[in-house]
Amino acid sequence: MEARIVVLPGDGIGPEVVAAALAVLPAVAARYGHTFETEEHLIGGGAIDACGTALPDETRRACLQADAVLLGAVGGPQWDDPAAPVRPEQGLLAIRQAMGLFANLRPVRPHPDLLAASPLRPERLQGVDLLVVRELTGGIYFGTPRERRTVNGEIQAVDTLVYSQSEIRRVSHVAFQAARQRRGKVTSVDKANVLESSRLWRQTVNEVAAEYPGVVLEHVLVDAAAMHLLTRPASFDVIVTENMFGDILTDEASVLAGSMGNLPSASLGETRNRHGFPRGLYEPIHGSAPDIAGRGIANPIGTILSLALLLRHSLGLEGEARAVEAAVAQTLAAGYRTADLAANGQKPLNTQEIEAVIVSHLG
Ligand code: IPM
Ligand code: MN
Repeated sequence: MEARIVVLPGDGIGPEVVAAALAVLPAVAARYGHTFETEEHLIGGGAIDACGTALPDETRRACLQADAVLLGAVGGPQWDDPAAPVRPEQGLLAIRQAMGLFANLRPVRPHPDLLAASPLRPERLQGVDLLVVRELTGGIYFGTPRERRTVNGEIQAVDTLVYSQSEIRRVSHVAFQAARQRRGKVTSVDKANVLESSRLWRQTVNEVAAEYPGVVLEHVLVDAAAMHLLTRPASFDVIVTENMFGDILTDEASVLAGSMGNLPSASLGETRNRHGFPRGLYEPIHGSAPDIAGRGIANPIGTILSLALLLRHSLGLEGEARAVEAAVAQTLAAGYRTADLAANGQKPLNTQEIEAVIVSHLG
């Protein structure tokens, strides 16, 4: 297999965790006889500084021609001025939209040796293995109007939560198809007791469910879902929800896996790469962590597991994906921890040290 991967390191710890994943790639190539070409491009704050825009045309073009895209993180305090005309996050939203990536898959499966790293009681975490399918190109992140205006002499701001049935339908299909490969249960999360968009969401998910008689569907309101994620996390299989609910609930769910630093994601749409697989964007769910950026101590596991998802979904390399996941699992089982995971008194590994251990398991 010859694959072209566009790499968008981004801001903060993005370049550090992406470098670790790029150290894993040659090990996979050598072991399985593949050729992976990588090409780096600017996105986010770095792109704003260099080109005045968070998603330069060159980056967009490269992503649309790649077999897959691996991204670190975007954002940082130096670009946070609320009055700034451009923001790093716009780059990420724009590339998701340009690539048509409407389904964001965020698997949460705590490693058995990391149960103590979570603030939840270990018995609550037994058997947790869930997949959040977050709608990624609609809802309040993209709806218009989105503006400030003056009403009765004072400033007002408006965002718009809008969904079309086709948007709900296509992401629901992704969730039901995933559930068929898993434990056969979908939990649709909405706020149908208040929001019209959620009532359409619920109705549409019900219609799609009729095409999947083998899958059990439950509807849970988002406030209750936030609670159930902590009180009965093992009861979930596939969760499907709109863009902002999914953003919030997956940060919460990452607590189940011991650290946000561990969680990968895959964003997929309908377009295919030249190998016939979805042209996806793969990124850890964490942000740019400006507080630790530049110190070389970030946990690269979320990005390395995102690379595994890239191998699986965009290149069809299931065995290779499993090998990377196994290398991470073996590293954790052997007791190696980055600072975010280390127990009191344990000396943590830095980014390059844990990367080296993971790579050694791929030899
Ligand atoms: C995420 C992030 C992004 C989002 C931000 C950086 C725009 O929080 O991927 O979860 O909200 O989608
Ligand atoms: Mn988020």
